Amino acid sequence: MDTCAHVSFPESIMIKIQPKWRYIFLFLLIQLLVTALLSCKEHKEWLKNAFNIFCQGDGEDVYANLPHVPRDHTGGPVLSYCPMMSPLIVGPIRVRFLSPPSLDYVQRKNPLVVKGGHYKPPDCEARHRTAVIIPFRGREHHLKFLLYYLHPFLQRQQLNYGIYVIHQAGNYTFNRAKLMNVGFSEAMKDKDWDCLFFHDVDLVPLDDRNLYACDSNPKHAAIAMDKFGYNLPYDTYFGGVSAMTPLHYFKINGFPNNYWGWGGEDDDIGLRVSLAGMSLSRPSLRIGRYKMIKHRKDKGNEDNPERLKLLSKTNETWKYDGMNTAQYHIISRTYLPLYTNITVNIGTAGGLY
Ligand SMILES: *[C@@H]1O[C@H](CO)[C@@H](O)[C@H](O)[C@H]1NC(C)=O
Ligand SMILES: *[C@@H]1O[C@H](CO)[C@@H](O)[C@H](O)[C@H]1NC(C)=O
Ligand SMILES: *[C@@H]1O[C@H](CO)[C@@H](O)[C@H](O)[C@H]1NC(C)=O
Repeated sequence: MDTCAHVSFPESIMIKIQPKWRYIFLFLLIQLLVTALLSCKEHKEWLKNAFNIFCQGDGEDVYANLPHVPRDHTGGPVLSYCPMMSPLIVGPIRVRFLSPPSLDYVQRKNPLVVKGGHYKPPDCEARHRTAVIIPFRGREHHLKFLLYYLHPFLQRQQLNYGIYVIHQAGNYTFNRAKLMNVGFSEAMKDKDWDCLFFHDVDLVPLDDRNLYACDSNPKHAAIAMDKFGYNLPYDTYFGGVSAMTPLHYFKINGFPNNYWGWGGEDDDIGLRVSLAGMSLSRPSLRIGRYKMIKHRKDKGNEDNPERLKLLSKTNETWKYDGMNTAQYHIISRTYLPLYTNITVNIGTAGGLY
């Protein structure tokens, strides 16, 4: 009798829930799972993010299927050109920002990357030589994430590439565009790169069909960032990640040197492209996707209050301010295992010294 009473107590609760609620709960749970699984296939970003945990097919590991046999540097047989379309490309890549990987770890994951952050495909002659220029100051964590994802991304595209971090020395207001002028000149001293990618440190590409090679017009690569809902914020937007051949760069007289602080310089560059009579090329919205590493606004990179005034005069100033007037002083140039660190004094709005 005693045990019976003991057992029947919880049972009576079960029976009370059972008839209606149990089935409703079960039904809701199934509903939730189905929605989650469907959302993986759909393109609705908020749904996809909400149910990210279910979406294992959501892009591939960026380190899958990379070549691991080093190039024969002993003057072995002459290699033939890589195929027009790299067979290593897979499409969407899984990108997560949990804790930043150490540089040692990234180095171990990329055994074929050599000093200065340079790489050539081991088994064929690359069709493109691309330098990635990253204007930089004080964002070490972002740099680690970017290097972790970008190295294998570029290797999959079978590029001959190098990564340059252009580090603004001192604490004066940040100047992204002037750092890119420095990056262009300094990278070209290393090798005759045929394409330069100007790359924000906090943007990671999400699809390796977004080829880091140049087109016949300057290219805007970061057209679909998560922070803009994977859309272009406005038609002439040229920010984040863009690419030019040296010839394009000369035609627009490089980048402006007088944008100190955040904003405006990317629109100025976009204007220069059209003033020089060129148009923009862009990948599709599905391919030109980027994920931004979240962060607070940096100290020393406050909004530039002058930017609208400067922009209204670009059509008159672009020929007199650019690569032909970029004055700077290189403080150090270090060929590190994963990138070349170029530390530079770019002076202040008042001049170089
Ligand atoms: C820049 O600022 C940091 C901290 O805000 C300080 O430690 C450092 O000495 C400053 N450097 C220069 C060159 O003024
Ligand atoms: C530049 O643009 C302004 C305003 O749009 C215009 O008034 C001016 O004439 C233009 N200057 C040149 C050199 O085209
Ligand atoms: C680049 O080099 C400078 C000077 O040697 C150093 O202070 C800085 O921390 C380095 N930055 C990076 C990102 O390696």
